[in-house]
Amino acid sequence: MVTYVHTNKRVHIPNEYVGAQDWLAYNDSDREVWRDLITAQTRNVRPRACAEWQQGLETLGLTPHEIPDYRKLDKKLYNATGWHLAVVSCFIPPDVFFYLLSKRHFPVTAWLRDRENMDYIPEPDMVHDVWAHTPVLTMWPFADYLQAFGKAGVEATKRGWLEQVQALYWYTVEFGLTRKDGDTKIYGAGILSSKGETMYVLDKPRSHHIAFDPSRVMRTNYRIDEFQLTYFVVDSFEQLLGLDQREILRLARKAHDGRPISWIETKKEDQILRHGKLKKTDDHGVQAKMLKKWRAQSRGMR
Ligand code: CO
Repeated sequence: MVTYVHTNKRVHIPNEYVGAQDWLAYNDSDREVWRDLITAQTRNVRPRACAEWQQGLETLGLTPHEIPDYRKLDKKLYNATGWHLAVVSCFIPPDVFFYLLSKRHFPVTAWLRDRENMDYIPEPDMVHDVWAHTPVLTMWPFADYLQAFGKAGVEATKRGWLEQVQALYWYTVEFGLTRKDGDTKIYGAGILSSKGETMYVLDKPRSHHIAFDPSRVMRTNYRIDEFQLTYFVVDSFEQLLGLDQREILRLARKAHDGRPISWIETKKEDQILRHGKLKKTDDHGVQAKMLKKWRAQSRGMR
């Protein structure tokens, strides 16, 4: 018998984006992939992930031993901070994404990579969506920030400030770093679900680490096909709480009207915590071309 589970009862999104988890349909090979991948990646992130994320992993009971059952996970997450999982089909457009966040629903897919693609997959699977993303959602400051972000995102999309809020999401939720007693740790899910980037961001000296400043972040471009060259570091998650819906929109508008900053540039007003040892191939020529294109696009949206 097949039991389809989806937890999307409280939100309404177009049918084509609604997904489901059929927990009983995962086979031995899926369970082995989950076990091997999570065992290995847990070892990598243990000394590098922030304490809050690790605590969240425990709160949610995410272990290598079992592929998470979304019904149980949804309850645990809800008990922690009032968030739900929204099971979606692979891709959802930005407006649906922001809408779900604004309703305290985190979109997750239910598919798992196969053994041939253990190291790299182009689209996020449950290792990224669930294992890497949901632990920080058990923390109040972060949980509230993400909802405020979703509300701001709904508005920003209508007003043509999509790139700016996407940059904020990118440099916090996906690629954010945090600092405690001078020790830099990872909380971004894009890093935590990548073995390579988990090692690279802290252990290799190539990238800039810059103190988090939301108006600067929202002007900063990012690359989606390679490891980042600039990361932003929050002192605590309370720093994100200052960003309510209104503030995010105010800053997004300002950033939209301001000059974009490339992913290798540093500014004199930056508080640079670590200056990256960039390579010659991290070239300004490529940056310039890309920025020109980006500017043309954002002009078109006005
Ligand atoms: Co993600």
